[in-house]
Amino acid sequence: MDDYERPPFFHLMEYAADADRDVVDMVSGNPDWEPPEAIRSGLQRYAEGSVETFQYPPSEGLVDLRAAIAERHGVDAERVVVTNGTGEANYLAMATALEGGSGGEVVMADPVYPYYHKRTRMLGGTPRFVPVEPDGTLDPAAVRQAAGEDTAAIVVNSPNNPTGAVYGEASKRDLAAVADEHDALLISDEVYERFVYDEGAFGSALAADSGNVVVTNAVSKSMAITGFRVGYGIFPERLVDAVRTRHMLVNVAGSRPAQRAVLDAIEATPESYYERNRDRLDDRIGTFCDALDDAGAAYTRPQGGFYVMARFDGYPGTLGNAERLIDEAGVAGMPGDAFGDSRASWFRFALVTPRAAEAAERLSAYFG
Ligand SMILES: Cc1ncc(COP(=O)(O)O)c(C=O)c1O
Repeated sequence: MDDYERPPFFHLMEYAADADRDVVDMVSGNPDWEPPEAIRSGLQRYAEGSVETFQYPPSEGLVDLRAAIAERHGVDAERVVVTNGTGEANYLAMATALEGGSGGEVVMADPVYPYYHKRTRMLGGTPRFVPVEPDGTLDPAAVRQAAGEDTAAIVVNSPNNPTGAVYGEASKRDLAAVADEHDALLISDEVYERFVYDEGAFGSALAADSGNVVVTNAVSKSMAITGFRVGYGIFPERLVDAVRTRHMLVNVAGSRPAQRAVLDAIEATPESYYERNRDRLDDRIGTFCDALDDAGAAYTRPQGGFYVMARFDGYPGTLGNAERLIDEAGVAGMPGDAFGDSRASWFRFALVTPRAAEAAERLSAYFG
């Protein structure tokens, strides 16, 4: 799971596209629904603007966009840095933690979003894995046991990719307390925050009374614009200068048209937009899980996000079996071993396709 030169999802998407049969792609996490109306109209308006508005935005992001993000989360706008997606915000947080001198280890769950441990290694750090509970949640007591003198950061993601688990406020507070004990950062990736199916289950790490919490987020998934690359980090005040400098040295600045359109969309989009998308996904999850029952698979119904992990008897989640599933069942899923050892016999299916029901039928016919 350490080869980051060629991530398996690129390979599998190509493999599925080259297959001799029709394949339902459940590998990529690209939303398949419309962005908010204001995204399209905002871009059109932008294209007609003066040439000055085509120049560099402030490196840390448009002032009004940072203010809108700060207002939504109830934080001071000075703490907000607009980034190239959640990905860059996570990188900035990790790099700052590993440079901070409190250690070289980054504690994370297994299974894990693969970029976390690959990024840790890229930055010269060492990942330390904590296996999740059978229901996919991360037990803060297990994190406390794994953390130690060399811990620079604890990285968590809720709603979770790949397990679908959602960590509540109490769990975030406990995790922040562990970070405090070791002068480490709790880096909380909340990019799937708008997709929670059990009301009240989700709690942001911002609720923790700690100066060691970084929250990373984006509109990539919530507004169905993963290609726009607009995300943000909310950093403790003492780290903001260092983070801004690194962001500027790496990127100069972010994309101004994308930020402008996102600002319009934050202001104009009603809650019902997010509710509609969440309800659609919840329906798909129901249909897909019913089919997994028919197929005799083991799975955990996600509490949030849009991924389902499933295990089929005698069919471990290897790259070879993912290719076989494409060839023989016409469904492309991610092999579980791409996410770590603890779910190596599982597959992960992304439900961001209008063909989720069709894929479900194919799986129940193939395994049932
Ligand atoms: C857990 C997690 N974090 C971050 C990202 C990347 O988000 P962004 O596109 O905003 O960089 C993804 C994308 O799939 C993800 O699953």
